[in-house]
Amino acid sequence: MSVVRNWLNISGLGRKMKCLCLALVLTCLSVVAAQSNIVCYYDNRAAGYGTPTVPRSLSSTNCTHYVYDGVGVTAQGEIRILSSFDTASGFDDFQSIRRTNTNAKLYVLLVSDRDGGKNLTNAIAGRSEKLVNSVAIFLEQYNFDGVEIDRRTSSKDEFDKSALARFVNRLRSRLYMINKQLAVSVSAQFNDAYDITSLSLYADLINLHAYNFVASTVNTLANLAPLFSSTPNNVVSVNSTVTTWLAAGARKNKLNIVLATYARTYTLASEDQRTVGARGIGPGEAGANTKRAGILGRYEICNQLSEYGSVSDTVTATTHYFKGKSWISIETEDTLVQKLTYVLDNALAGVGVFTLDLDDTDNTCGNGAYRISELAHQYFTTG
Ligand SMILES: *[C@@H]1O[C@H](CO)[C@@H](O)[C@H](O)[C@H]1NC(C)=O
Ligand SMILES: *[C@@H]1O[C@H](CO)[C@@H](O)[C@H](O)[C@H]1NC(C)=O
Ligand SMILES: *[C@@H]1O[C@H](CO)[C@@H](O)[C@H](O)[C@H]1NC(C)=O
Repeated sequence: MSVVRNWLNISGLGRKMKCLCLALVLTCLSVVAAQSNIVCYYDNRAAGYGTPTVPRSLSSTNCTHYVYDGVGVTAQGEIRILSSFDTASGFDDFQSIRRTNTNAKLYVLLVSDRDGGKNLTNAIAGRSEKLVNSVAIFLEQYNFDGVEIDRRTSSKDEFDKSALARFVNRLRSRLYMINKQLAVSVSAQFNDAYDITSLSLYADLINLHAYNFVASTVNTLANLAPLFSSTPNNVVSVNSTVTTWLAAGARKNKLNIVLATYARTYTLASEDQRTVGARGIGPGEAGANTKRAGILGRYEICNQLSEYGSVSDTVTATTHYFKGKSWISIETEDTLVQKLTYVLDNALAGVGVFTLDLDDTDNTCGNGAYRISELAHQYFTTG
């Protein structure tokens, strides 16, 4: 500071310049202080697994936002509790994250992935006033800091984008009154399903779920989340999607790239047809704990991958694994670091982690528990 002062005196510049200089210093300080987002999801179904993950066990993680996934809605615009666990202990338990993570923001997700989103679509279209009120009351009742509207869609014809834009506008005004925040989750598959300008204007966070560019109903072997595009099999990528969103007016400081913690798995038609783009015959076997075909938690597969062959592609920044008729796409430490670098290089708001309970919850893999959010934490705090 004394150097700055001397320089000012020597150059004989007046107070205006000093103020400008101070403003610059303050700006720099606030840039350093502005932390990248790490938006971590918790799926309440994990409380029902054989080896459950309950919200309390997330207290050791270092996320900036936590999203409780989630609650449903009725077509009439009321909140619908999806599991008795939520009201019995889940919501309360989730609040305990605040004890260790005092600055974290706690959100609840209005889900659409469990019923194809029809109720939410109908409520937004026909009962939006009621839904806005239901959300506001619910957030206060259970002490959430915000709501995330899940508008990941499996088809771009699924809902009316202008109805969504109007709803988000209304909800924003209502939430201002009670000092609550608003996030929207969107799918990277269908950019034209959204009014990007409005979402960017009214939402505090846009969580771009940048994986599964090929619908899970299609049996084509696909990388979970190629960072860059390559023809003919990875035409859509994280980068191509982000570029589209930014070109359409999305604000960088609201856009989080959501990373998938889990493995996406396929069953091959034959062992020699295992290149990306080849046809499989269906999803891989369900995991012993998570019990969903086509998906494995990181802890369910990491220690077996050494028995698999693997192919890493530098153009798309992906790695896939194969063994017999099993084919698996999962983020590696390397592909994750490339995505984190991309977020910093492009000055995006941060990342999401979908979901914590599908990550390495108990350090089975040996790189530390909840490795993905932790890697983001280390990467974002050390630069
Ligand atoms: C979160 O950060 C703290 C402090 O850096 C660290 O001690 C802790 O191990 C981190 N949590 C996890 C899950 O690694
Ligand atoms: C949709 O809402 C109706 C009530 O309007 C409810 O009975 C039904 O269970 C809901 N469906 C889902 C899948 O949430
Ligand atoms: C990222 O996407 C943009 C727009 O499609 C493209 O111009 C650019 O080359 C891409 N970057 C890479 C490394 O592929």
